[in-house]
Amino acid sequence: MTASAVPHDPATGKDGVRHSHRTMLLGDRPVNLDGFVEEWPEVGMVAMESAFDPEPSVRVEGGVIVEMDGVARADFDFIDQFIADKAIDVETTEASMAIPAAEIAMMLVNPTVTRAEVIAVTKGLTPAKLLAVAKTLNIVEIMMAMQKMRARRTPANQAHCTSARDNPVQVVCEAAEASIRGFAEMETTLGVVRYAPLVAMAQQIGSQVGTGGPLTQCALEEATELDLGMRGITAYAETISVYGTEPVFVDGDDTPYSKAFLASAYASRGIKMRFTSGTGSEVQMGNAQGKSMLYLEIRCILVTKGAGVQGLQNGSISCIGVPGAVPGGIRAVAAENLIASAVDLECASGNDQSFSHSPMRRTARLMPQMMPGTDFVCSGYSAVPNYDNMFAGSNLDSDDFDDFNTIQRDLQIDGGLRHVKEADILAVRTRAAKALQAVFAHLDLPPISDAEIDAAVYANGSRECIPRDVLEDLKGAQQVMDRGITGLDLVKALEATGFSDIARNLFTVLRQRISGDLLQTSAIMTRDLQPLSAVNDANDYNGPDTGYRPSGARWEEMKRLRHVTSAANPEMEVE
Ligand code: 5AD
Ligand code: CA
Repeated sequence: MTASAVPHDPATGKDGVRHSHRTMLLGDRPVNLDGFVEEWPEVGMVAMESAFDPEPSVRVEGGVIVEMDGVARADFDFIDQFIADKAIDVETTEASMAIPAAEIAMMLVNPTVTRAEVIAVTKGLTPAKLLAVAKTLNIVEIMMAMQKMRARRTPANQAHCTSARDNPVQVVCEAAEASIRGFAEMETTLGVVRYAPLVAMAQQIGSQVGTGGPLTQCALEEATELDLGMRGITAYAETISVYGTEPVFVDGDDTPYSKAFLASAYASRGIKMRFTSGTGSEVQMGNAQGKSMLYLEIRCILVTKGAGVQGLQNGSISCIGVPGAVPGGIRAVAAENLIASAVDLECASGNDQSFSHSPMRRTARLMPQMMPGTDFVCSGYSAVPNYDNMFAGSNLDSDDFDDFNTIQRDLQIDGGLRHVKEADILAVRTRAAKALQAVFAHLDLPPISDAEIDAAVYANGSRECIPRDVLEDLKGAQQVMDRGITGLDLVKALEATGFSDIARNLFTVLRQRISGDLLQTSAIMTRDLQPLSAVNDANDYNGPDTGYRPSGARWEEMKRLRHVTSAANPEMEVE
């Protein structure tokens, strides 16, 4: 019984104590289902202020860093050594480290200091120094700095495209809808891992229906992920995890060197890739060595830089519950995104796994990335309902599309999405499902019926889809691997079955591997299938009236929502 239901009764809580009606009501609010903990620096449950974090220092002898953040070279762990040898610029480090942290922070915030001038300094900074810089910035200053430091001028967004039943017919429809809604990247993962080839194929085909251009990935264990990428059934890779302490790396049989080797395997085939890290992973794996979450995350950012990888998915990602539970945790998450951008990496900035029951907290957590814009505001906006999200739910999902588009319009900020008319959505979902039906038939994979297509086109989620014959699908998925089916085979099958527009889009995306254009920092493909990256679309923010601002056709498109009253005819709504 809620307090408000019986306004005149004494309010007695579960503890048997009399409480005010207001306390009872507040106790029932969604935010009070969230978990909060006190800081506990000894185990790393602290956002960015641990007494156990090192003091910044650097010493160079004979062109080699011989001391970093109070640790002598002889005592380096493999992360220290990797960062000292591969990430920090030995030529400039002593000069950069001599600049006070607050002065570097001022350069980050001051719009008249260019992005390039900031990077000339940050490339010489140690983890402890970058932490010292971040500690001086409040949340608005972090956003101001992000506005300048993100690598690509035009912000973008990334979708999760999954199905609770791993249903490829649903996924091909969801990918097509995500594509016309504006997502530049989309990723899937599986309930049953052996389903991966069929679901990844569905996503790859769906993504190129209608507008075309989005890049796709399938999050799996690393060998399969690499295999699908090499075959061209996916277009990029992202979930290559790095960690901030040696024991956590060792737990996964990995080192910065093994991750760098994997990165070069992708690069050798022209496949876009980024690493993943984020505050809270080391605490969650029980080996934070008493360091703050942000200090450890900065080590991950520099490992990424040192590996020569173009970008990083960070912002806590699947560990968001951990920083979300401590004081200042969401500020630290915004700071980790900023530091990735400030060392010239592409940043896919989280707003990924769900962390709160409170709609207000969910929105507040989004603003530090959505307001300034990042390379990917969400690195996993669920384009499907929460129950279909096989990444364990996202901070935003398909139920939030209209809210998200309205926030873009209210604040004139670009989160990469747009409102689309239902007729257009149904058209691309239908065409996508028919294309997959034809490709499956052409490749002798399990049939897709017209009834399945009809259900999936009009579905909100897998609950409205017709269940597949899972056993037959799993045999088909194995066939895809055994027969060595590639992205080019998908192009040929689409061409042979009358879907040559989709074939052409997919072929254009795959062809980028030869030119290597998608290896550039923050690379995406535009809707007219041109590569867009920090090379041909460099962020040029330099204060008021400069940099990216939604304008022209993009702003006109952002003005459209589901219900907007027509000025010419107030009885009418324009869609
Ligand atoms: N640190 C490292 N890797 C992470 N991932 C998610 N969150 C983190 C994090 N904080 C990676 C993992 C996971 C995938 C979804 O993303 O590899 O399996
Ligand atoms: Ca992601």
